[in-house]
Amino acid sequence: MAGKKTFYVTTPIYYPSNKLHIGNAYTTVLADALARFKRLTGFEVYFLTGTDEHGQKIEREAAAAGQEPQKFVDEIVTWIKELWNELDISYDDFIRTTEPRHYKKVQQIFTRFYEQGDIYKGKYEGWYCTPCEAYWQERQLQDNQNCPDCGRSVDLIAEEAYFFRMSRYADRLLEHIETNPQFILPPSRKNEMINNFLKPGLEDLCVSRTSFDWGIPVPFDPDHVIYVWLDALSNYITALGYGGADEEKMARFWPADLQLIGKDILRFHAIYWPIFLMALDLPLPKTIFGHGWLLLEEGKMSKSKGNVVDPMVLSGRYGSDAVRYFLLREIPMGHDGVYSLEALIKRINTDLANDLGNLVSRTLTMVERYFDGVLPAPAAQLAESDAQLQKLALQTPASMERWMDELKISEALAELWKLVRRSNKYIDQNSPWELARDPAQRERLGTVLYHLVESIRFIGVLLGPFMPRTPERIWRQIGLEEEAAAEARDWASLQRWGRIKPGTVVRREEDLFPRLNLERELHCALLSEETVRSKPAAEQGKKKAEPPPDVKKEQSELLTIDQFARMDLRVVTVTAAAPVAGADKLLQLTVDLGAEGERQVVAGIAEHYRPEELCGKQVLYVANLKPVKLRGVLSQGMLLAAEDKQGRVALTTLDQPLPPGSKVR
Ligand code: MSP
Repeated sequence: MAGKKTFYVTTPIYYPSNKLHIGNAYTTVLADALARFKRLTGFEVYFLTGTDEHGQKIEREAAAAGQEPQKFVDEIVTWIKELWNELDISYDDFIRTTEPRHYKKVQQIFTRFYEQGDIYKGKYEGWYCTPCEAYWQERQLQDNQNCPDCGRSVDLIAEEAYFFRMSRYADRLLEHIETNPQFILPPSRKNEMINNFLKPGLEDLCVSRTSFDWGIPVPFDPDHVIYVWLDALSNYITALGYGGADEEKMARFWPADLQLIGKDILRFHAIYWPIFLMALDLPLPKTIFGHGWLLLEEGKMSKSKGNVVDPMVLSGRYGSDAVRYFLLREIPMGHDGVYSLEALIKRINTDLANDLGNLVSRTLTMVERYFDGVLPAPAAQLAESDAQLQKLALQTPASMERWMDELKISEALAELWKLVRRSNKYIDQNSPWELARDPAQRERLGTVLYHLVESIRFIGVLLGPFMPRTPERIWRQIGLEEEAAAEARDWASLQRWGRIKPGTVVRREEDLFPRLNLERELHCALLSEETVRSKPAAEQGKKKAEPPPDVKKEQSELLTIDQFARMDLRVVTVTAAAPVAGADKLLQLTVDLGAEGERQVVAGIAEHYRPEELCGKQVLYVANLKPVKLRGVLSQGMLLAAEDKQGRVALTTLDQPLPPGSKVR
């Protein structure tokens, strides 16, 4: 390893008070793309994430769930790790603040501060925001009563406490910020820190609490637990073994190259954290980057509003590479951005299906069709368009690296997409299908297809940090999946055009990113307004609606077989489902009847099935009922469902899939 450049990147450690939402996942996906890019370009990377498990907020949430805090957080941490797995987060270490390797070191740090006179004992009287775990003075409150950060109500506390003498270090910090323009990024946030916190005079910070227990005890005064932010911030060095017998990782990776956080917690990272580090005589991180917020069209995402978007569900439906691509491309780093299902689907359809997917599928189809899947050799003589494509491909890695070094991930991806789009344009310019008609153009056709496959190789390597699963799928299709081809898949292989060998066998597989039907996805509603974002309980099911139209009472009269045969019973596949406005019990479904196309059905099953549970289900259906309008919505036919005496309803599904439209006899 000697001599290899290192890169230490951290995310905030998340509160395991609830499942994480797409906003939290955003921070981690950004960090992961940066970590992977640095690995690709030859750095030895240490990528740290973890969970912030102590504090009053977690204690309260655990009590509300009727659980011991440790057990409560253990379950959520398991889910968080599954989420990172789902999103291909390549962390090198996951630190939990309840681990002995962390809390013992935090006690040492606290004791050291006390012994060197940075910490003294006093009394805290003021306000506390538990969701933010932050102290506030009366004059700082919003409307004299709420937390200025999150707007929620604050508690008045008066307790004996330890304080950290921030004032001792304030001048040094101000100077550091002013002389190191890379220290706080983006630059606008730097001024905010200086003007709002440092210039008015930094107050001493209360660093212990006595009115609850769930925290790391002050070793020499165990009635106190250490303030959760002092505990949490230390994770960035305790994870490297700070203060232990083996400080090898500390020596190798500290100071951190990049500490990535959301702008809401910049104050803790750009003011308190550097001061704690100064008191420990440690160098300060090179860059603290406060990224923007991921908002919904109607504003902030919040658990209390019940409008959070679950990244696990999104990734399960659209694939983690698509979700990652959206997060990385849609929002210029540092700015706020808006998540909407529509924006996600549009990105998938335009950038992934149209641009990238089409490039790969068109190219490989042509190599299969015109050269039996064997990559032809390019001619020695190049046309202008070949030279241009080569030039752009060879320039792209360096341009992307420049953007990544500036922490402009969206711009780096835009750079890569220039190559993707240029390659598609190259197809149109050269019209290989016309060349294929003229035997005299056989060599030219081979040159064009070679250039395209080689360009796809460049794109495959460069996609890796952002969409880690897609390159594998590309390698399989262009015959580069074997270990022996590894040197055609790395960064160095992008220095030279022509690494893929003529004669390689290519094999077109399924489309990388099939185009999605926007209307259907929005209706299917897995993630639409009504479903992914669970509504506050108060808004759900109030009045009794009419009995479900398709859950009818049994027939009392006996039927003849002919009468039964008049009923056209079929298998249908539900392709879209959404609530019917103003009708609590009804769902509007689109069902696929095979060769006979699609039908719209209104079913009274909204209290029993959520729309997303229905999409893809095969159900029995009466195809020849007279159409009716229910709540103004046309219903053609009826789904068959069973109902028991308690009113439980179950749809009649099949025990194995059959083609839609199949008859039931
Ligand atoms: N536990 C503290 C961090 C301690 S770090 C020493 C914490 N945890 S958190 O779970 O509440 O938030 C973690 C991160 O998620 C923060 O960077 C925060 O900015 C980010 N986000 C929370 N909601 C967000 C959005 N809607 N959009 C983008 N990021 C968001 O704070």
